[in-house]
Amino acid sequence: MEQTREEEHAPAAVYDRIGIGYKKVRLPDPRLAALIRQALGGARTVVNVGAGTGSYEPHDADVTAVDPSQVMLDQHPGPRKVKAGAEELPFEDGAFDAAMAVLTVHHWRDPQRGLGELRRVSRRQAVFTWDPGHRPELWLVEEYLPEIREMDASRFLPLAEVAEALDAHTVLPFPIPHDFTDGLQTAHWRRPEAYLDPAVRAASSTFATLPASVVEPAMERLRADLESGAWHRRHARLLEQESVDYGYRLLVAGES
Ligand SMILES: C[S@@+](CC[C@H](N)C(=O)[O-])C[C@H]1O[C@@H](n2cnc3c(N)ncnc32)[C@H](O)[C@@H]1O
Repeated sequence: MEQTREEEHAPAAVYDRIGIGYKKVRLPDPRLAALIRQALGGARTVVNVGAGTGSYEPHDADVTAVDPSQVMLDQHPGPRKVKAGAEELPFEDGAFDAAMAVLTVHHWRDPQRGLGELRRVSRRQAVFTWDPGHRPELWLVEEYLPEIREMDASRFLPLAEVAEALDAHTVLPFPIPHDFTDGLQTAHWRRPEAYLDPAVRAASSTFATLPASVVEPAMERLRADLESGAWHRRHARLLEQESVDYGYRLLVAGES
């Protein structure tokens, strides 16, 4: 599916279109949940910006979910939901103990302004994002869909800029386990057959935004390589690994 001109200027509209079915493929992973929970440091009031369906929210805190997409907010189970963008949070200065933002900053129209808003409304911030400068890249990008590289480079802020905008005091790597449950683009690095499933691809905004004319021939090549055994011969060593650092990072800022 191609991104429409309207969507280029209204990122929430992307999730109004692709957000259906998100919850089935994007199951919060307990290992990432533990890391985020630790970073939130026992906060009692939390604002989750770009909350989507509410993944990774601490269950023992009062959470306010913020998202500009109604389709995503409708799938959020919590009692406090606010339809807004990160760039203009409708809260007082210091209204929350902590703010969290998970896999969302790359969707914001103005990430610097949104990160500034997180700092304004909370005393502590935990942001989970991906470093576009990190190597190695996923084999899917190198061998089948190099178009993803350009798209992600244009969406994700360099990690150093996110760290600076937040004035982060801690940057924690999160290597992706081979059985990671949250179906983000890299999740299936050791389960290549998963990428052949259109429902899996639809839950990743990169896949869902690339035109079918690009994705489908690449997936046919992957299917053929899996059937012939060529993929497994090329990636025999990868199949022995438990987790791989593909550049996901948790940044923590503010009061410790
Ligand atoms: C990949 S989803 C992540 C959702 C959730 N944080 C999670 O970890 O599952 C990205 C979310 O960012 C939201 N989003 C898009 N533009 C935004 C903006 N300007 N401000 C805040 N959130 C935005 C989308 O609607 C979507 O729900």
